[in-house]
Amino acid sequence: MTEHYDYDLTPHNTFGIKARCRRYVAFDTVAEAQKALPKLVSANERLLILGGGSNLLLTGDFDGTVIHSHIMGMEQHDDGEEHVLLRCGSGLVWDEVVAQCVADGLYGAENLSLIPGEVGASAVQNIGAYGAEVKDLITTVEAVEVETGRIVHFTNAQCEYAYRQSRFKRDWKNRFFITHVTYRLCRTFVPHLDYGNIKAALAEKGVVVPTAIELRQAIIDIRKAKLPDPKMEGNAGSFFMNPIVQRSKFEALLPLYPDMPHYIIDADRVKIPAGWMIEQCGWKGKALGRAGVHHKQALVLVNKGGAEGSDVLALCRRIQADVKAKFGIDIYPEVNIQ
Ligand code: EPU
Repeated sequence: MTEHYDYDLTPHNTFGIKARCRRYVAFDTVAEAQKALPKLVSANERLLILGGGSNLLLTGDFDGTVIHSHIMGMEQHDDGEEHVLLRCGSGLVWDEVVAQCVADGLYGAENLSLIPGEVGASAVQNIGAYGAEVKDLITTVEAVEVETGRIVHFTNAQCEYAYRQSRFKRDWKNRFFITHVTYRLCRTFVPHLDYGNIKAALAEKGVVVPTAIELRQAIIDIRKAKLPDPKMEGNAGSFFMNPIVQRSKFEALLPLYPDMPHYIIDADRVKIPAGWMIEQCGWKGKALGRAGVHHKQALVLVNKGGAEGSDVLALCRRIQADVKAKFGIDIYPEVNIQ
């Protein structure tokens, strides 16, 4: 267990916002978490469970204890002939897990390559990209109940996964500290190339039927071309979720915006890309004070240098208001605002 007081959180949030916390604790083992967490609760301590800090906007110093998992380790168990269960420590870097899977011939996670963050957060956030969501791989989530120190196992169904949603973001927030996540991977590679420009990116390299390594590389290339590197320009990936609207709402907008990109969810609901709406509002590449909208992907807000959480929040509110005024649609942040 590592413990620090009056600790600098700047390196722990990819937005690069300067903030401190009163105390910072990292657990290397489940037993350490079981012992320490109930004590923090009895002391009425405010808690913030932090992963890689890649989906976080800090709006000030945190007057409480920030908890981080350093629980590592990966174990493989066969699940029949075709599948493998991979139990991962919550402190592992997600993309290192994907890289290991591809190297070991375990498939299903390739399209989720290069998503920042750690294993624990993958299960909180239901990370997704390029037509894949981690909920389709997760079988079990193990956690320590913060109040009691008891170990609990949740099935995928119990986590109530949906688009960028789970119970860990709602009623279970700060109630459970995730220690391990088990993913079910396949020994046979079935490439999923239908989303966006994957096929085009592969075709540029003369590839029609990719290997898993080639697909992973194509996803990495697409992400690198579109999304800003937090080391160069602070950001937390997509700042907003893509709204899901009633079909009637979508049909009312379509004559006004015939080129509006959209994804049909079911007979009643349609998902409209928030990035497109933000661009239509004229925000792409623009800034408000020290916070800006990325010039290649309007869904990503960036720290133009020295931004405080309040700068990003002010930009967020202006964008929400403009999208509402132009399209009559509410958009909500994907990032955790603290
Ligand atoms: N679009 C624009 N202008 C923009 C941005 C997007 O017109 O500035 C349009 C695109 O042309 C496309 C559509 O909106 O027609 C969707 O864009 P894109 O494929 O780039 O994906 P997204 O909906 O903006 C989502 C995820 C990303 C993920 C990509 C690819 C969310 C909140 N975001 O973004 O996830 O990488 O799809 O699958 O669902 C993240 O969560 O941090 C993240 C980066």
